Amino acid sequence: MKINYYGHSTFQVSDGDYSLLFDPFISPNELAKDIDLHEIKCDYLLISHAHQDHIVDVEQIAKNNDCQLISNYEIISWFANKGLENGHPMNHGGSWNFDFGSVKYVNAVHSSMFPDGSYGGNPGGFVVKMNGQSFYYAGDTTLHEDMKLLGKYENLDYAFLPIGDNFTMGIDDAIVASEYIGCKKIIGMHFNTFPYIAIDTEEAMRKFKDAGIELILMEIGSQINI
Ligand code: NI
Ligand code: MN
Repeated sequence: MKINYYGHSTFQVSDGDYSLLFDPFISPNELAKDIDLHEIKCDYLLISHAHQDHIVDVEQIAKNNDCQLISNYEIISWFANKGLENGHPMNHGGSWNFDFGSVKYVNAVHSSMFPDGSYGGNPGGFVVKMNGQSFYYAGDTTLHEDMKLLGKYENLDYAFLPIGDNFTMGIDDAIVASEYIGCKKIIGMHFNTFPYIAIDTEEAMRKFKDAGIELILMEIGSQINI
């Protein structure tokens, strides 16, 4: 599996046959100014919640790629009203088998209003099973005890967790979250994009290492094999 990072919480996960893109926020991100939106290819676009910093490039990328949107019912409906009718609506606790594998939409404790004030449904995260691997994309969330259910019932190979604090979990809570979900390979997201979520990345690396958990902080524009 290949993972590409486009800054903030925007990741692409590909298995060679299918590409999944999560929460595209690229064009307004000064740190991602070298990323060309038109170069990004995806088959599915997964959206965790309706905040600007997770949806701003959905329309452009969906139009470039003719991909399917996967999100909660309210977000799928909002984009359908804008003419993006290829959407798959879900809600908390529900799973669906797609051609690339399965997706479960799980709880996130956050908020989810569109920039125009429309209701964005309940914010969520995703547990994805694809090509023999299983991963969790948490979206924006606090640490919460439902994460223990993922540790009990899912066998996660890796997880994307927010670590930037202020709007989501910070480093210390993300370490507890890693323990709750039973996963020792964490890819950090939602940090350093704005002053409110600036973190000391060396401190983050050290704290995770001391806890016996691998923290991967990808460079924007880089790719890893996992
Ligand atoms: Ni948010
Ligand atoms: Mn956010």
